[in-house]
Amino acid sequence: MPFADDLPVPVGAWAYPAAELLLARAEQLALMTEEPSRITRRAFTPTMREVQEQVAAWMHAAGMSVRRDNIGNLIGVYPASTPNAPTLLIGSHLDTVRDAGKYDGPLGVLAGLACVEQLTASGQHLPFNLEVIAFVDEEGLRFHTAYLGSEAVSGDFKPDYLHLTDDEGITLADAIRAFGGNPDRIAQDRRDPATLLGYCELHIEQGPVLEQASIPVGVVTAIAGQTRMAISFRGKAGHAGTVPMQLRRDALCGAAEFILAVEAYTRESPDMVATVGRINAYPDVSNVIPAEVTISLDVRHKDNSHRQRVCKMLLERAQHICITRHLTLDWRIVHENPATPCDPALSGILGAAVQQAGYPLLHLPSGAGHDAVAMARITPICLLFVRCAGGISHHPDEAVQVGDVAAALDVLHHFVHLLANQLSLGTEQ
Ligand code: GLV
Ligand code: MN
Ligand code: MN
Repeated sequence: MPFADDLPVPVGAWAYPAAELLLARAEQLALMTEEPSRITRRAFTPTMREVQEQVAAWMHAAGMSVRRDNIGNLIGVYPASTPNAPTLLIGSHLDTVRDAGKYDGPLGVLAGLACVEQLTASGQHLPFNLEVIAFVDEEGLRFHTAYLGSEAVSGDFKPDYLHLTDDEGITLADAIRAFGGNPDRIAQDRRDPATLLGYCELHIEQGPVLEQASIPVGVVTAIAGQTRMAISFRGKAGHAGTVPMQLRRDALCGAAEFILAVEAYTRESPDMVATVGRINAYPDVSNVIPAEVTISLDVRHKDNSHRQRVCKMLLERAQHICITRHLTLDWRIVHENPATPCDPALSGILGAAVQQAGYPLLHLPSGAGHDAVAMARITPICLLFVRCAGGISHHPDEAVQVGDVAAALDVLHHFVHLLANQLSLGTEQ
């Protein structure tokens, strides 16, 4: 398979053992799960606390000061060589989807940590603070939205979010409190753009491009926009044995027709992806006609106006299905973000780091969402992808090669030093 260590590029002597350590740590974090047989780590849970305590211990040992902000993001600070220096943030998230892989999120946090450990080992400080940030919620598994952690930092967290409830009816405000955070002070988590140099995220690719090109890392150009909706179909419950088929107002059949219509449409639409990943039927009983069904709909495309047009068209289709089936329709947007370009200047430095480290420079877009989307609203962002086996992600089969992780750590190392040089030159002028 082309996934082997097929590029004979030597990585810095420290990077290979650092990558081995990173992967061992990812294995260790993967054991911290809410479900014994699979990796599931929702935000603001005791399991998230356990993971944060472990990562905080590693941060302390690496010479960082560690804190949690009001929403519960974990932040380790490696101080600059001079006072009043700006800050470079490196990070990703520690929450997961249900039955997740080991690397989506933790890889970026552990890479930031490895970068600091290399600086500590060589006794170096940079002309900027290096903060490793582990966002508490990116996937939105618990409250069915996305980027709660990074939106607190970017200042986009809306107080209304605090009333969101999880599947047990616990509000976000109570979950944050139980986690030790302070929901009343989340506005204070916003970082002042004037103090920031940028945000760099290292992430598995979650797609096949790098593997097909036989290249270990790639620089991301832009992150696709997405709309996540909750759509409810309402009909009428009735006896499964007595209501004739022609008289039924079956909400689940309406939802099913819509789901297949979404699939048929997006199959014909280049670069468009749409997914119905959740379905809730009420009363969820085998001998009762379903009265109410709520589904999620996740629509993504690189072009914002196209995505919005398609969402509108799909909702019209749902409305049409409801009219013909005598159902009522209700929908709301639970999350939406436009396509987000990476910062050309910061990405240019990342690209130079890739080349300095001896790898071919490949640019690629991201279909997946990342905390970088929220961070882009307050600071320049760049994103480095690491090849992953078969492009598989959001699945326990997620896999990376140690050589590729070493390559990514090497690139990150070159990146922070290139940035440091640029900053020093800038201040000397
Ligand atoms: C985050 O993983 C996403 O849904 O893209
Ligand atoms: Mn993910
Ligand atoms: Mn992720």
